[in-house]
Parts: sequence; C-alpha cells; structure tokens
Amino acid sequence: MNGTPNFVEQEDPDVWSAIAAEQERQQDGLEMIASENFTSPAVMQAVGSVLTNKYAEGYPGHRYYGGCEFVDKVEDLARERLKVLFGAEHVNVQPHSGSQANAAVYMTAIQPGDTVLAFDLAHGGHLTHGMKLNASGVLYRFVHYGVRRDDQLLDFDQVARLAREHRPKLIVAGASAYPREIPHGTFAEIAREVGAKLMVDMAHYAGLVAAGIHDNPVPVADFVTSTTHKTLRGPRGGIAMCRAADAKSLDRSVFPGQQGGPLMHVIAGKAVAFGEALRPDFKTYARQVVANARALAEALAAGGVKLVSGGTDNHLMLVDVTPLGIGGKLAEETLDLCGITCNKNMIPYDERKPMDPSGIRLGTPALTTRGMQADEMRRIAQWILRALKAPGDAGVLQAVRGEVAELAVQFPVPAARLEQAGVAG
Ligand SMILES: Cc1ncc(COP(=O)(O)O)c(C=O)c1O
Repeated sequence: MNGTPNFVEQEDPDVWSAIAAEQERQQDGLEMIASENFTSPAVMQAVGSVLTNKYAEGYPGHRYYGGCEFVDKVEDLARERLKVLFGAEHVNVQPHSGSQANAAVYMTAIQPGDTVLAFDLAHGGHLTHGMKLNASGVLYRFVHYGVRRDDQLLDFDQVARLAREHRPKLIVAGASAYPREIPHGTFAEIAREVGAKLMVDMAHYAGLVAAGIHDNPVPVADFVTSTTHKTLRGPRGGIAMCRAADAKSLDRSVFPGQQGGPLMHVIAGKAVAFGEALRPDFKTYARQVVANARALAEALAAGGVKLVSGGTDNHLMLVDVTPLGIGGKLAEETLDLCGITCNKNMIPYDERKPMDPSGIRLGTPALTTRGMQADEMRRIAQWILRALKAPGDAGVLQAVRGEVAELAVQFPVPAARLEQAGVAG
C-alpha cells in the first residue's frame, strides 16, 4: 500500500486481515465459480463511495427524503444506460439482489396461490423459481419442467404439455446451471398459447445478451430480471425490466413492495458497470468468455469426464465427475486444495444427494476478466484432470497448486490496480 492511509487496517485490523486474506485468495487462485466475476476498480470505487450514507426511498424526482438531487442523477444514469443496453421500455435498478428482482416480478404479475411453470432446481433452475423453502415456493404453486434424459437439453414438449395441463399465470425461463443458449422465443410462443405471462431470469447470461452474442429476451418477455454481478460484471445486485404498461406496477412491487431504501452506492456501481458494458471492448470480453468455456469444455471432455449436454454454448459447463470414480463434493474439495475454486452441483437426473452430487459447475467469466485465453483454459483443464484423477495424492495436488500459483501471478485481478494506486482494495 502506498499513499492513501488504509483506514480499515488502522482502525479495525481484525476485519482488515480477513479482507486482505480474501484479496490474496482471489489473486493467488483461479476463480471458476460460474456466477462470480471481478468488477472493475471504477465499479468498486463507486460502491465504496459516500453514496452509502444516503437514504433515498422512492424514485428519482419522487423521493421520501430531501437531499436526493445527486443520487437522483446517479439512478437516472443507471436507468438510461440499462434501457439502452437491453432495449427495454422500462427498467428498475433498485433490487438489492436477483432474488428480490424475482420476488418483485412475482408480486407484479401474479397473486399468492397462482400457478407458475419454471425450470426444475435439480435440472439447473434457481431457488427463487419455486423451491419449497423459498418465499416463491411458499407463496405460489410452482410446477416444474426439466431437460430431456437423452440429450439433457430443455424439453419443450414437456414445457408445452405442462403449460396446457396446468394453465399457469406465469412461465419462468432462465437458469443457474444450464450450459446452452435458451431460445426465449419458444417460451414466448408457449406462454402466448396458454395465456400466461413470460418472465425471463437472465441472471447468469445477461453479459452475453448485453454483448449481443446471446438471444435478448427483452423483445419477447413481459418481464426480464437479472443479477448485475455475474457475466454482466457489475456490483452485487439485481435489476428488473418490463414494458411501459407494467412500469408503475413493477416499481411499486420493488418499493415499497419488497424493499425500503435503495442502496445508492450499489446503484452507482451499476451505472458504472452498465457504462462499461456499452463499450465495444465488453463485446470482446464476452466473446472470449464463451470461447474460453468451449476450450475448457473440449479439453475436459477429451480427458475422460462427461459434460452435461455434451458441451457448452455459454459461460459455464456442468461436469459429471463420476466417470473418474469420485463425487462432486470430493471434486470441489480437491480442486480447492489446488487453488481452483468451483462448486459441486447436481446434474440432471442425478442419483446422488445435493450435498454430494455427481457434478461440479465451472465457469469462465472471472478468469476471462483477468485476461486468460484458450491456451490458459487448456492448461487449467489438464490440472483439473490431474487433480481429480488423484484426489488422495498430496504430491500431485501440491504440484498442481504450484502451477496454479505461477499462472495466477501473471494475471493480476482488477483490485490489484486499486492497491497499486494506494487505495485499499
Ligand atoms: C438464475 C438466477 N436467478 C436469481 C439469482 C439470485 O441472485 P442473488 O444471489 O443476487 O439473490 C441467481 C443467483 O445465483 C440465479 O442464478
């Protein structure tokens, strides 16, 4: 650290030591959790700004608090940029998270007890798509579609059949662990046929949509939600979008329906991130994310693991590790020892339990932000295979850990630039 004093370090060394250790972990290892990324130093500075001090319940021009002239400007910038990014008629940038964005859309589109058709969590869906312990599953009657057993692709015959049988008020598309591009138009046709509204939760692949390389759901869906911190590479948070006719109702569902005061510092970070996503180099980034995922997937498959659906079109892949004689829990733990961070994951029709499923989920958004390319992905695939084929061999794991560290040091994380500038990262 040079220049600016590090106030956290000076005043709260306990908290600082954990932050510093996390920063080191992010720099020294390989982050392959598909839902994570590294925001730019500009996004981090916006989130760490004085805007955290401001209460601003309401919306720009209509607040319940005084002194909002500058935060209004920030929220307007975020809203305008987001509209341009996805071509949306109306946007709401206040949801604190993807979960709250989804809850707000449910509150707008349906009533408690209504039927909703969504992707099965065990096949790659999300908690907020009707898991029984989540508020969505408590408040609404969810019915789930899945993927086909043979090719592990979305089963649209089943989607149409369930839609005709259950006449849902809302159909939800989007996933947390589906390695293929989602054809939103097909969902829209089925929704139209049965008189349901369509919500697309593009939390995972919003960055690929923003870059124009994945199908944009905004023209065909009634509601589109997302997180801002995955492929979109912004701060942790959520967004919701809809047509002009639903604007008032959606805004009311976010505030006061789901939340109190918006996190203005995070909205500033969102504005900065949307600005970044509008620049041409974000397209280059997103294309590289996909190219890297493909390179990693091909190298892994050549090395003896099975990939759900046989590969990937997007930023993630689901790897069935059972052909190597291990489960997902041991795979996650083994890779952790090598400095490679990922998560264990159920695969469709998994016969193992959620806490020790058959697979792991791997993603390339974070490593691509660090500047890694297909060659690095192929090297990483070899390390993953070496480790997973010898999970009990401390010598092998140590050797892989060493090679991981050598690679990691060549690709600084964006936070390193803050540190070089003398600002606590
Ligand atoms: C598809 C999908 N929707 C919603 C969310 C929820 O986002 P958050 O963790 O910000 O509440 C996630 C997060 O993993 C997700 O994958």
